Amino acid sequence: MDTKWEIQRRRTFAIISHPDAGKTTLTEKFLLYGGAIQLAGSVKGKATARHAVSDWMELEKQRGISITSSVMQFEYDGYCINILDTPGHQDFSEDTYRTLMAADSAVMVIDAAKGIEPQTRKLFKVCAMRHIPIFTFINKLDREARDPFELMEELEKEFGIGTYPVNWPIGCGHDFKGVFDRDEREVLVFQEHHRGQDKIRAVECELTDTEVLDGLIGERMREKLVEDIELLDGASYEFDLDAVQAGELSPVFFGSALTNFGVERFLQNFLKMTTPPLPRETAEETVDPFSEEFSAFVFKIQANMNKAHRDRIAFMRICSGVFQRDKEYFHMQGGKAIKLAQPQQMMAQERAIINEAFAGDIIGVFDPGIFSIGDTVCSAKKKVRFEGIPTFAPEHFSVISQVDTMKRKQFSKGVTQIAQEGAIQMFHSPNSGMEEVIVGAVGVLQFEVLEYRLRNEYNVDIRRRDLSYSYIRWIDETPKKPDELNLASDTRWVQDFQGRDLLLFNNEWSIRWAEQKNEGLKLSEFSRNW
Ligand code: G4P
Repeated sequence: MDTKWEIQRRRTFAIISHPDAGKTTLTEKFLLYGGAIQLAGSVKGKATARHAVSDWMELEKQRGISITSSVMQFEYDGYCINILDTPGHQDFSEDTYRTLMAADSAVMVIDAAKGIEPQTRKLFKVCAMRHIPIFTFINKLDREARDPFELMEELEKEFGIGTYPVNWPIGCGHDFKGVFDRDEREVLVFQEHHRGQDKIRAVECELTDTEVLDGLIGERMREKLVEDIELLDGASYEFDLDAVQAGELSPVFFGSALTNFGVERFLQNFLKMTTPPLPRETAEETVDPFSEEFSAFVFKIQANMNKAHRDRIAFMRICSGVFQRDKEYFHMQGGKAIKLAQPQQMMAQERAIINEAFAGDIIGVFDPGIFSIGDTVCSAKKKVRFEGIPTFAPEHFSVISQVDTMKRKQFSKGVTQIAQEGAIQMFHSPNSGMEEVIVGAVGVLQFEVLEYRLRNEYNVDIRRRDLSYSYIRWIDETPKKPDELNLASDTRWVQDFQGRDLLLFNNEWSIRWAEQKNEGLKLSEFSRNW
């Protein structure tokens, strides 16, 4: 077994997008090219098929949606690819953000008719915080789309990064003929017009081959393309792989996931430009993924997969070396040697027990309740402790209390445990103890998960009252005690269960007020946990 070779060929990335931009469709097409599925349309055609991927929670079954993110592995052209799905819709949660901590790069799918949308914005911020490479796929060119130059400008202005169009669309909607590949300097004209169940065929042709090109796309479109390319070559950023890998320049691809136009070229280019597993930081050192010794960190805990046993699965990103089943490792936070039981991986649609896995891979292991998000597991020979995973600002808040006052103890225990697992965040007003528990979540569905789990696992029914706040910020530095700050009347001071001070706001205006009226006050959208 050549460990270095195995690690070198790994590519681990997250797909991010606003719901409906085409993330699922694009993933499906990747799997199709990887030969991992026969027919596109079978990954998770919403409701029913999604159960095949994760039918762990009862609630999930009832609602026909996937609450947690999933990971898929497949092979393509000698690469071993791990795709981390970041759930959207109502199942958007803090897990969605945490998943990005396990990725080495991100593919951002954008609907060509809509441009940047709110969820893309939120996820982009987290990727930018980590400076990971971001690849943009502008999707749905087979429909009416916005002007590609305008889309580029929007990306650069809003996200403050450079863009480098790797290909350029020829028309859109019914007139979407294909793309111009700027590296190869060739035109790809797509042949089939169907829902892209197969790999697509394209005719390749030089931009200078006027006659052939006129025959393929018509004179008018050829002229427009030549004009566009001249403009692009003159005005756009130069390609710079270092800037891409530092997350400063985003290679942009145009295509249509549904009809399969431009997907394979995108995959090929993306795989060439993105990185093998990246080194990870600890407080003392940088851990080399190619080092012999195994290390990993927990980025997600999936609770209650089997109600009878209250078991959990901890998902880990392997940061270095090779994982071997039945070998003993060391859990840093627990200070103990452990064996990782039932190690699993998602191979396309199936969950399989595995014997080994390499840096870059994600494994799920049985968790008897010992792991917390951010924990490190490593070889006892080389102990390391990775930086923790930040806590991200929730956007929905409720006050909760137990219906039956006799169940106070179970209530506190349940809420605290669920918060420790990272499903929700827990806050309280200073000086009011546990009388009033404020819970915060990134996605509202987490409140339903909380209610459901308290009832089913802790036998506690709760009352819940939604609060109007939409923003919370950790106080990193303050010139005064929080209750002495000059704040808008509706701003509220709270603490998390680690005793850190935070402020709750109704709107961005109140955040600006707090910052402007209190010199030296530093607020942040996430809290670093190390
Ligand atoms: P998501 O995971 O980002 O939420 O998006 P998803 O892939 O589920 O796509 C959302 C909708 O957009 C789907 O239509 C899908 O077929 C469509 N779509 C995705 N890529 C393209 C594209 O390149 N061109 C066009 N025209 N449509 C695209 P739906 O009607 O909601 O579902 P379905 O019945 O087609 O599955």
